[in-house]
Amino acid sequence: MCPPRAVTVRFRRLDARDRTARLALFARLEPEARRARWLAASDAAAPPEPALALGAFCGPRLVGVGELYPWTEAAAGELALAVDPVFRRRGIGRALLERAAALARNRFWRALFAFCAADNAAVLALVRRCGARLRLEPPEAYAIVPLLSPTPATFALEFLDLAELWRERLRPPAATAPFPGIARPR
Ligand SMILES: CC(C)(COP(=O)(O)OP(=O)(O)OC[C@H]1O[C@@H](n2cnc3c(N)ncnc32)[C@H](O)[C@@H]1OP(=O)(O)O)[C@@H](O)C(=O)NCCC(=O)NCCS
Repeated sequence: MCPPRAVTVRFRRLDARDRTARLALFARLEPEARRARWLAASDAAAPPEPALALGAFCGPRLVGVGELYPWTEAAAGELALAVDPVFRRRGIGRALLERAAALARNRFWRALFAFCAADNAAVLALVRRCGARLRLEPPEAYAIVPLLSPTPATFALEFLDLAELWRERLRPPAATAPFPGIARPR
């Protein structure tokens, strides 16, 4: 079932505790999207761990991720995006790209690289809007998104996403009955 267009989406930084939700999201991607996302370089069941990752949530459900993989030899890194099929075309991919770019700028990276299939219209349209230079070598495509220096706005965006993670991690667990069938005393 398709969710209503006006869903509220929350963004936050992801940490190691989000791994299960991340894998569940990758498992929900259609085979074509998995091919586009990994170009057969790795598989969805055992993806590499990103250095930095951002998530989009609809309620408790992780519906999109933006991941950064830094390169050691240059002030740059690789960007990977994935949005749950039923939540696409709502601006989630664009918001994740904007936030991932802020993280990269705050670390003084000069560029983000995205690798995808040459027929991946969605990601190519997204990065083109950010001024990316594209190299099409069918069946693959490479995009280089040049990055500007950080600003107070990019630091603020990173802080907000981190604060949202801390808020969630520090929230007391929901009250549950101590044993099945025995209600918690009031
Ligand atoms: C690429 C992807 C992350 C985009 O996520 P999204 O949430 O749908 O993106 P947005 O809603 O922010 O789209 C922003 C713009 O991208 C373009 N776009 C998105 N999907 C598109 C499509 N299927 N065809 C053409 N353009 C598309 C549009 O210009 C869109 O703006 P619009 O909605 O105003 O027309 C998503 O399609 C996805 O997860 N694909 C599978 C995994 C993948 O290919 N990852 C890329 C490897 S890095």
